[in-house]
Amino acid sequence: MTDPRPRGEAFIQGLLDGDRRVVPSALRVLSSTDPGDVVVAPDCYTSRAYHDLEVERVWRRVWQMACREEDIPDVGDHVVYDVADLSLIVVRSAPDRIQAFHNSCLHRGTQLRGGSGHAEEFRCPFHGFTWNIDGTLLRIPCAWDFPQIDPATFCLPEAKVGVWGGFVFVNPDPAAAPLEDHLEVLPAHFAGWPLEERWKSAHVVRIVPCNWKVVLEAFIESYHTVAVHPQLLRTTGDSLTQYDVYGRHISRMITPVGMPSEHVGRDVSDEEILSLMFSTRDAAEVPAGTPARQVIADGVRRTIAAEAGREVEMSDTEAVDAVEYFVFPNFMPWPSYTTPLVYRFRPNGNDPDSAVIDVMLLQPVPASGRPPAARPRVLGSGETFADAPELGYLGRILNQDYATLGRVQRGLHATVRTDLTLAHYQEARIRHFHATLADYVGS
Ligand code: FES
Ligand SMILES: [Fe+2]
Repeated sequence: MTDPRPRGEAFIQGLLDGDRRVVPSALRVLSSTDPGDVVVAPDCYTSRAYHDLEVERVWRRVWQMACREEDIPDVGDHVVYDVADLSLIVVRSAPDRIQAFHNSCLHRGTQLRGGSGHAEEFRCPFHGFTWNIDGTLLRIPCAWDFPQIDPATFCLPEAKVGVWGGFVFVNPDPAAAPLEDHLEVLPAHFAGWPLEERWKSAHVVRIVPCNWKVVLEAFIESYHTVAVHPQLLRTTGDSLTQYDVYGRHISRMITPVGMPSEHVGRDVSDEEILSLMFSTRDAAEVPAGTPARQVIADGVRRTIAAEAGREVEMSDTEAVDAVEYFVFPNFMPWPSYTTPLVYRFRPNGNDPDSAVIDVMLLQPVPASGRPPAARPRVLGSGETFADAPELGYLGRILNQDYATLGRVQRGLHATVRTDLTLAHYQEARIRHFHATLADYVGS
């Protein structure tokens, strides 16, 4: 009898049934809803009017990841988080307190901080109005000339701040519901993957010539692997990916790794797979006949244990497969160990044809202690992801994605169609994202 479940779900759940270790219960929690038919109009990617609606109704109202706690370890450390016109100074104002202030002087509006760093106070570079790092007023030059100011209340306006998994989230809306409400099932799913215990070993930033949603959507489906990343097909079961959507804000995919794609028109031996999965190959220790996925899983366990100085309990699927979560509007943490990624995608200023990609890697903290978090490496116009050696083999894959994205944006401008044509299953996360986006934007 034919399995009535989506084939990706049937395949992955069968794979989990055969795991040699206990599989986290989160990986057994399947989609509770189908996003249904969603019309995605091309001009949502190209129109300035739609961008302005997104700023007003999404970016000014939604919880969004601003930085890691480890980016601002000491009191006075701060990150400037920019999205569209918004600019927030996210600062550790006390050992156990993080605040976010709108990055604009209350005198005549000058940007208070030009970038991330450390400060004992926030002094405006124009006339010297100065605030403490907790946002209270410290001094005004010629204060006698501002009789209208009550120093006790002349504080920097704040955005809301929440912390989860070692990430600092901000929300400019003072009436916003708590971060926990926004994260829905995410904390429960990550109960066994404490990302606050990881260390940010890489952070690479690049501008891409496309709308932020174009690049985001390229990272919530595996359907493009066959055309964009053909070198991965012998080791990646792209078309057997399981896709799940939950509530309004969360979705997930699980892509099987260490096995060939259905698109490969021949048998691929375990030896060939292992020779391609270079980082975990140790031929001398491989008993003949051991399936490639098990060899890779054991290799990953050894590597992680050596790095962390302790055994890290993980099932085969956590060790080998690619598991990626998405949190609306733009945050993607991966709990899996071979691809410990975090992505974030934002509009680049108010240009609907330009976006900012952040790529981070979160590794287990070494036995020797937590190293300083990697500072962002911002790639220039003449550089590619291959110029960031800290990304390893991911650089080539990301460059392949990058090469496609500008063409997508140009094609969206050129189309005469009024909606896109989305796959029912493999692009379910895109339909889910757009259903939620339309709900926020009110279109
Ligand atoms: S604009 Fe900031 S002190 Fe004048
Ligand atoms: Fe890709």
